[in-house]
Amino acid sequence: FSCEEKMMWKRIQCFAKLNGYHIYLWERQSSLSLPISLSRKYSVKTSCDVDTLTVLGNSYNTDKITNVTPKILEKMGKNLHCKHNHPLNLITRRIENYFNNNYRNNWRAPMFSKFDRISPVVTLTQNFDSLLVPSDHPSRALSESYYLNSEYMLRAHTSAHQSDLIKQGLDAFLVLGDVYRRDTVDASHYPVFHQMEGVRLFSKQELFSHLGDTSRVTFFENGSRDATKQERHTIETSLCLEENLKNTLRNLANNLFGDDVEMQWVDAYFPFTHPSWELEIKYQGEWLEVLGCGIVEQEILSSAGADSRVGWAFGLGLERLAMRLYSIPDIRLFWSEDSRFLDQFNVEDPNTKITYKPFSKQSPVINDVSFWVPDDFSENDFYDIVRNIGGDIVENVELFDNFVHPKTKRKSKAYRITYRHMERSLTKREANEIHSGIVAAGVQQLGIQER
Ligand code: PHE
Repeated sequence: FSCEEKMMWKRIQCFAKLNGYHIYLWERQSSLSLPISLSRKYSVKTSCDVDTLTVLGNSYNTDKITNVTPKILEKMGKNLHCKHNHPLNLITRRIENYFNNNYRNNWRAPMFSKFDRISPVVTLTQNFDSLLVPSDHPSRALSESYYLNSEYMLRAHTSAHQSDLIKQGLDAFLVLGDVYRRDTVDASHYPVFHQMEGVRLFSKQELFSHLGDTSRVTFFENGSRDATKQERHTIETSLCLEENLKNTLRNLANNLFGDDVEMQWVDAYFPFTHPSWELEIKYQGEWLEVLGCGIVEQEILSSAGADSRVGWAFGLGLERLAMRLYSIPDIRLFWSEDSRFLDQFNVEDPNTKITYKPFSKQSPVINDVSFWVPDDFSENDFYDIVRNIGGDIVENVELFDNFVHPKTKRKSKAYRITYRHMERSLTKREANEIHSGIVAAGVQQLGIQER
């Protein structure tokens, strides 16, 4: 650094300290620009203040829609699904084994190619447009996903890679990876989780191979769309694909959970498949949704140069499956580096039966907060503040009162926040400090007013 730069650096540090800012070191752009960005201590919009962000070694210019937070960036590149002895890796290996053992090509090689290291930074085109997500679809809202800028985001689902891999000529593949969504805070929701995508395409011969003579069935038609099929598909094509898809996933669920697991198909809607379903499995007396799936929209295949084929796709949530399989009660545990957690999954054979044993039962501290909210208040902004400040100490945030003042029409919300450390005890004082930090940040960042 030149003398001038050093002085400026000192001034900025001083300013930051006085104003409660944290300094993040991002990258050195040129010898003249200082390698810093300032972000408010309790900000959800920390990264908006920076010109460039470095994410997994690449830099991105920030703009008015940047909303990714330092807490989220911290989680990137961990690749939990590839970490030996991690429950997500064990379940991944079981699912891969299921596909490799049951699906082979003509040369007896595994039919499904596996991709588990594709970067989670994708373009909005990959995440939405390539999947026919309409421009006004709610999933595009800034309150739903993490954006680096107007061009790049953190993938919200592994479906973002479907089109590219089909373009590469693949007919059957699995994509595994971390996905990012702004969401509620409770035992089964975390802003980063892991998905496995599966896609299989068929030629006419392959789809109808069980019929022997395929000359009497029609593959495509110019018909109409209804609840059971797309316009380009004949009813035979659609039903055959549905059966193949549901058998594949039913057998997978039996393979993971045993033959007596209870499951049900629920009709669903996704812009990129039709018809679409969700698979739910029974867990502790309740139905738990574990995957979404359907018949791939033919338009996606034709844009990707595979219009002579038809296909199905599914996307499953790995944490959900692992929680059910190993009786893991809280999604935050997947991020634990505590050996009392990890050692329980230290096995060679992924088929080993494991039931998670809680290693510490800490008591929670529960604090309520109620406040008036501005008209443009978004719950997910509040949840991001809670996660930024409380981190994994926050177990649950519950909206327990929603009220509109009869005269002034002002809106008020009351949240109950449960704090619990998973590995050690948490003092009331510690929790209260975090709680006040959250409220202060809400006031500063979102314009809420404590009641
Ligand atoms: N991408 C969907 C989700 O994340 C799941 C899905 C994948 C649905 C493939 C249909 C086909 O919810």
